[in-house]
Amino acid sequence: MTDELHEWARSLDTLREQAWKRLSRGVADRRAAARHPTLASVDRQGMPRARTVVLRAADRDQAKLRVYTDRYADKVDELQATPHAGIHVWDQSAHLQIRLLADVAVQVGTAVEPVWAELSEHARNCYGFQPTSGAPIADSLGYEQWPQPSAFAVLDMTIQQMDILHLGNRHRRGWFERQDEWVGRWIVP
Ligand SMILES: Cc1cc2nc3c(=O)[nH]c(=O)nc-3n(C[C@H](O)[C@H](O)[C@H](O)COP(=O)(O)O)c2cc1C
Repeated sequence: MTDELHEWARSLDTLREQAWKRLSRGVADRRAAARHPTLASVDRQGMPRARTVVLRAADRDQAKLRVYTDRYADKVDELQATPHAGIHVWDQSAHLQIRLLADVAVQVGTAVEPVWAELSEHARNCYGFQPTSGAPIADSLGYEQWPQPSAFAVLDMTIQQMDILHLGNRHRRGWFERQDEWVGRWIVP
């Protein structure tokens, strides 16, 4: 049934197009699955670290994604040391798993001031804590929110690989790489 419903899963081009459609929907729609991807990095000990983030921008033509974060969060340090991330989305309504590998550029300071200027007061509260993110505290609420542009960072992610799995009567999995200009090939699920 899902194979008829999801005809786009039958060709590499339309499978990849559907993945971008879902990613774009994540930016525009708070309830879309791709609103909250899992972002994985590698820490300084070489251990995997994964966390939920909000997808802020998806540029299909450039194959880039954007996420906002606290400059002092551990992930920023990790991504500066090892500038690669895994990004994962499971979109149940499309029966689609999207796995991406990206190079990450951490933007801070004057480069992110125009983005900061557009944020609501409520949104700004997520960026800037005293003591800083990840520090031990005596009580669960033993911290202050201290929003300021110097505590704001933008993660610009340039996708290098896309691994797109569609679950149907028979599963289909497409593998796409920037270096092949996203032509893609089928691989075994
Ligand atoms: C629904 C949800 C959305 C989140 N969105 C973000 C986000 O956009 N950026 C971010 O840095 N952290 C976000 N977080 C918090 C992270 O998951 C994580 O706890 C925090 O950033 C610290 O991660 P780190 O210590 O690995 O840097 C979100 C958490 C949840 C549950």
